[in-house]
Amino acid sequence: MLNFPDNFLWGAATAGHQVEGNNINSNWWEMEHAPNTHVAEPSGDAADSYHRYREDIGLLASLGMNCYRFSIEWSRIEPERGVFSRAALDHYRRMIDTCLEFGVEPIVTLMHFTVPRWFQHDGFWRAGDAADLFARYTETALGILTDRVKYVCTINEPNIAAMLAGGEDASNLVAYGLPHPDLQVADALLESHRRSREVLSQVSGIKSGWTVATQAFQPTDEDGSEEMVHKFGYVRDGWYSEAAQGDDFVGVQAYTRNFIGPEGPKKRSDDIETTLTGWEFFPPAAELGIRDVWKRSGQTPVMVTENGIATADDERRIAYTDGALRGIHAAISDGIDVLGYQHWSLLDNYEWAAGYRPTFGLIEWDKETFKRHPKPSAHWFGRVAQANALPDASGASQDEQRS
Ligand code: BGC
Repeated sequence: MLNFPDNFLWGAATAGHQVEGNNINSNWWEMEHAPNTHVAEPSGDAADSYHRYREDIGLLASLGMNCYRFSIEWSRIEPERGVFSRAALDHYRRMIDTCLEFGVEPIVTLMHFTVPRWFQHDGFWRAGDAADLFARYTETALGILTDRVKYVCTINEPNIAAMLAGGEDASNLVAYGLPHPDLQVADALLESHRRSREVLSQVSGIKSGWTVATQAFQPTDEDGSEEMVHKFGYVRDGWYSEAAQGDDFVGVQAYTRNFIGPEGPKKRSDDIETTLTGWEFFPPAAELGIRDVWKRSGQTPVMVTENGIATADDERRIAYTDGALRGIHAAISDGIDVLGYQHWSLLDNYEWAAGYRPTFGLIEWDKETFKRHPKPSAHWFGRVAQANALPDASGASQDEQRS
């Protein structure tokens, strides 16, 4: 068996806007309903996890997982500038308490791409007071985190957020094409992250960090070079990992790899296996992300806060996850401090501009009744979590998949 460290956190992740439904005060909701939007379909009720969170957390626990990464929505907590909702805070307090009741470690993200409409209209991350506002929101959330939550992710994928802000079509969150990041936004996100961490550090016992979308940039064989990769990749990926130095942990969110040629990202060939988001099926992405972040961040403990694939073929999800976990195990065996693994995603979710077509979930749900149906991968993953180990030959785990 490939054993994982004691107390390894095994779980799945979601984000508020992608599963809760009716997140109407967020900038994304507004964009989904704007005339000429590029978004494939609006988020609507999503998985109605806002009301069904107890069932979702209970299911996660009964499958064998021991942590749940989810986000709290700033736009619900502060629906108008300076106006805070006690009811929304209470809702998230209940979510956290439900995790604890089921023996599940809550891992809370403060900002997972979406911001309140008013924040967008008042200048977004380019506003002079953006970091003050994010620090104030963190302060407000502190009451429900204190004594309950050990791991807080301040900002989800600041590198993707800065690229989206820099791209011509900010709504194109899937197949985002890796535009040049808006460096003013990147700086504001880093300042906001640091201010937020200052607030969180008032509470002993809270560990905080941000989560980086690691891109596993590689040179193309024919005309790429390490220098090109550095030039292209540093502002989109490496800079954010370096900035995590000194944080309590850093999140790695890995899905695929990207080849870089003289003109930027390059398609390798037509015959590679791709997923429903068009990304290469590439299980080593997580291991590469961990190794890169560990090195750049000066050996900051790593949490794999997202990893998974969009597929309608659940056997490929198992194969991908099995491969990813083997790589993660190898990184741990080399001495890298990996705290846990959260699969993306617990539920089939609203995949931003691509709508509901790409299915990342371990659990699917009925569009009309919202009834949850765990996929075979959910059971497989739960068994791995329970064992805190993988069979040491992937063949064995293939047999297990069929059982
Ligand atoms: C994001 C998620 C998204 C996932 C798959 C990450 O970029 O944090 O919100 O659903 O990747 O695209």
